[in-house]
Amino acid sequence: MRPEMSGQSGTRVAVAGFGRLASDVTRGLAALDGIEIVGIARRQGADQTIRVGEALVACYRDVGTMMRETRPDVLLEATLPEFAMEHALGALASGVRPVVATSGVSDRDLEELGRACADHALGGVVAPNLSVGAVVLMHLAAIAGRFFEHADIIEYHRDRKADAPSGTAVHTARLMQRARQGTFTRVPTRTVTVPDVRGGEANGIGIHSIRLPGLVAHQEVIFGGTGQTLTLRHDAMSNDSYVPGAALAIRHAMETTGLTVGLGTLLGLER
Ligand SMILES: NC(=O)c1ccc[n+]([C@@H]2O[C@H](COP(=O)([O-])OP(=O)(O)OC[C@H]3O[C@@H](n4cnc5c(N)ncnc54)[C@H](OP(=O)(O)O)[C@@H]3O)[C@@H](O)[C@H]2O)c1
Repeated sequence: MRPEMSGQSGTRVAVAGFGRLASDVTRGLAALDGIEIVGIARRQGADQTIRVGEALVACYRDVGTMMRETRPDVLLEATLPEFAMEHALGALASGVRPVVATSGVSDRDLEELGRACADHALGGVVAPNLSVGAVVLMHLAAIAGRFFEHADIIEYHRDRKADAPSGTAVHTARLMQRARQGTFTRVPTRTVTVPDVRGGEANGIGIHSIRLPGLVAHQEVIFGGTGQTLTLRHDAMSNDSYVPGAALAIRHAMETTGLTVGLGTLLGLER
């Protein structure tokens, strides 16, 4: 027998993944009016309950079983890039609106998810970054990129982050390219003595991924022009920074039809 869920009413949210991101965000969401956490799935999760605020929430090993048993309105997907699409498409097939926080969703996956949202006439959100400050940084970077031909993105994350570069860095480069009338150009180096020292590249923009213990989530965008540079930087000091954005994405998925990509659209910063 699964335990009784909390008596609160509101949007029923099931959470796939309960790692560093989801455990903090779930606790933050549970404290908000109008959101009820009805299930949590993680690989080591069967036959347990997890205390989330005042409530005991059932924990599942399998996301599909969780959705069948808890009948959520929204699936907050925060596992690993290799599972995000399967969980999001499975949610839509069950009539559940996906909010994908997991990074690394490709453009091709976005197209597939967009079609699935339209086919099922349901809302869905893919938010490579749920931090409002980081999304504002992306917006400002897109504006600044119109005036500078050269730019590098440096993203800093904790040592155990599974993927590189971060979804936020890739999305930032995408927005910068979209806003710029023209191309970004990488400044060449004649002699490179340490392999890969100039970092990777997306849309003509250099991307550098720093992984170190002690970091949370940080990003700089540095623009270079004649006799000047411009640096934009955002620092997330804790995972609490993701809670307001997650709540906004959940509300948006409930109130709209079709796929929305990026918190910037929800904040009215992107089209
Ligand atoms: N959008 C944003 O703002 C944002 C912010 C931070 C991170 N992220 C992204 O969010 C994702 C999760 O990050 P994290 O730091 O929380 O990672 P994490 O600590 O490694 O947590 C991953 C969680 O997913 C669970 N999991 C993995 N595969 C699963 C499956 N098939 N079914 C059910 N549960 C599964 C894991 O369970 P076990 O522990 O039992 O294996 C674990 O609880 C990453 O892609 C990260 O890049 C996004």
